[in-house]
Amino acid sequence: MRIVLVGPPGAGKGTQAAFLAKNLGIPHISTGDLFRANISQGTELGKQAKAYMDAGNLVPDEVTIGMAKDRMEQPDAVNGFLLDGFPRNVSQAEALDEMLKTEGMKLDAVLDLEVPEDEVVKRIAGRRICRNDSAHVFHVTYKQPKSEGVCDVCGGELYQRDDDSEDTVRKRLEVYHSQTEPIIDYYKSQGLVVTISALGKVEEVTGRAMGALPRP
Ligand code: AP5
Ligand code: ZN
Repeated sequence: MRIVLVGPPGAGKGTQAAFLAKNLGIPHISTGDLFRANISQGTELGKQAKAYMDAGNLVPDEVTIGMAKDRMEQPDAVNGFLLDGFPRNVSQAEALDEMLKTEGMKLDAVLDLEVPEDEVVKRIAGRRICRNDSAHVFHVTYKQPKSEGVCDVCGGELYQRDDDSEDTVRKRLEVYHSQTEPIIDYYKSQGLVVTISALGKVEEVTGRAMGALPRP
């Protein structure tokens, strides 16, 4: 299965992707997590991405598309993947189509998570992530770690993401509406979009998503 996950910042893409990828037996590929891993390792790519991310802007396509392609070409992704945060504009969607076409592959579905803006703001304001791995995600009220400030998975320190400040979140939402939402129409024209509500408990949303996705 090859799936693209879309939805506004804080919709719960990363949270759902972890469960869906496990259920479907495919890797979870998050361009946001890849950028954050590069930043914490101090790589050149991380240095290039950080200023854009901190301002709530998209990292330029030249950097992003190459990074996503390299990850999709890893051996664990030959039979499918769940893309989270990529593509994020129409030119990235076109580049992905081109990549897949070259390999004789196609997408199976685009899962669109719908969440009202006031809920997204609450989810982002309370989010805490792990210093060791930004895929370890908690929330001060909705998903409390067993011990305050400590990651349940690896014992790492929990902190608030640099781009989760109020001003940056506003900018990220604006970028989502202007640059990312148009990919939903792009994929609708290919008949691939499945829209679900991402309100409710995490496991309820996972159940809804599994029910809406095509059978593998
Ligand atoms: P990225 O990391 O992709 O961030 P995002 O799209 O803004 O999404 P988030 O990670 O903020 O939210 P999410 O939907 O994953 O929610 P989560 O599961 O954490 O991108 C960051 C930046 O990197 C971009 O701004 C850009 O600069 C750059 N970038 C990345 N990809 C790029 C690309 N392709 N091109 C160019 N630039 C790119 O959940 C949020 C919180 O809610 C958590 O605390 C969670 O515990 C909680 N929660 C989740 N589900 C529920 C629920 N059902 N009920 C209650 N709480 C819940
Ligand atoms: Zn951790």
